[in-house]
Amino acid sequence: MIRIKDLCKSFENNNVLKNLNLEINDGEIVVILGKSGSGKSVLLKHIIGLLKPNSGSVFVDEHDMGKLCGRAYFKVLKSFGMIFQGGALFDSLSVGENIAFYLVEHKLCGGKFFPKSGIKKAVKDALKSVGLEGTEDLYPSSLSGGMKKRASIARSVIYQPKYTLYDEPTTGLDPVTAMTIGNLILEQHKRLNGTTVVVSHDIYTTINIADRIALLENGIIQVIDSPKKFMSNDNQTIRSFNKIIGGNIDNIVFNDRKI
Ligand SMILES: Nc1ncnc2c1ncn2[C@@H]1O[C@H](COP(=O)(O)OP(=O)(O)OP(=O)(O)O)[C@@H](O)[C@H]1O
Ligand SMILES: [Mg+2]
Repeated sequence: MIRIKDLCKSFENNNVLKNLNLEINDGEIVVILGKSGSGKSVLLKHIIGLLKPNSGSVFVDEHDMGKLCGRAYFKVLKSFGMIFQGGALFDSLSVGENIAFYLVEHKLCGGKFFPKSGIKKAVKDALKSVGLEGTEDLYPSSLSGGMKKRASIARSVIYQPKYTLYDEPTTGLDPVTAMTIGNLILEQHKRLNGTTVVVSHDIYTTINIADRIALLENGIIQVIDSPKKFMSNDNQTIRSFNKIIGGNIDNIVFNDRKI
């Protein structure tokens, strides 16, 4: 479980997060929506402990992420998979080497020892699970934007993290590819039986994958609710999201997911 309590973060005079509160339950997919610059990436980086709060706390299970350091921090970090906004693949490594990276470095999968002899097959399986079979020997520079997102998802899910965080997984993709990435997030979530946090401004994908949607605005979570209730909220930004989808949530649900 992720519990964020009264989180404040400023960069000099820029107060980005202002007493933000949020709880994410085990097993759910929460999508955090917000305009560009609202602090979505800053919030994710607090969850994974890459940024430390000015005040307030971020608890992941029993761990206070703002207070952990050194070995204790890296131990908890292993329960996270993070798909960064730009993909963050290593350009000098092949796709296969990128995907294998964590298993080679840490020899852990789902928190348990993983033998070197199993890595080749695990890479093959991870690439298959994201629809990138046979791309082991390619380099990131020869992948399309959508393929890079898939590869970075494979790099994360291969070690079966408990928590998977996605930062703008569909930005820059055409709507059809964005939809397939949305489906992939759902599939991986079910496969890992974990907890997923996605930050996005893509309302179409959000509605299709979220158990709950949160709106980050003016430094706090203004609204958090199931997709249908969220979209019925009177908040002005949510009304704009409603306009984007033509006011009818039922028409844009591609999955058979009940909302
Ligand atoms: N390391 C940093 N140093 C200084 N300011 C930062 C830093 N990281 C983020 N900010 C500022 O915090 C604010 C929120 O940034 P953030 O990247 O979280 O926005 P975002 O909601 O993820 O936007 P986008 O949708 O464009 O990715 C911005 O004003 C940004 O300039
Ligand atoms: Mg961002």
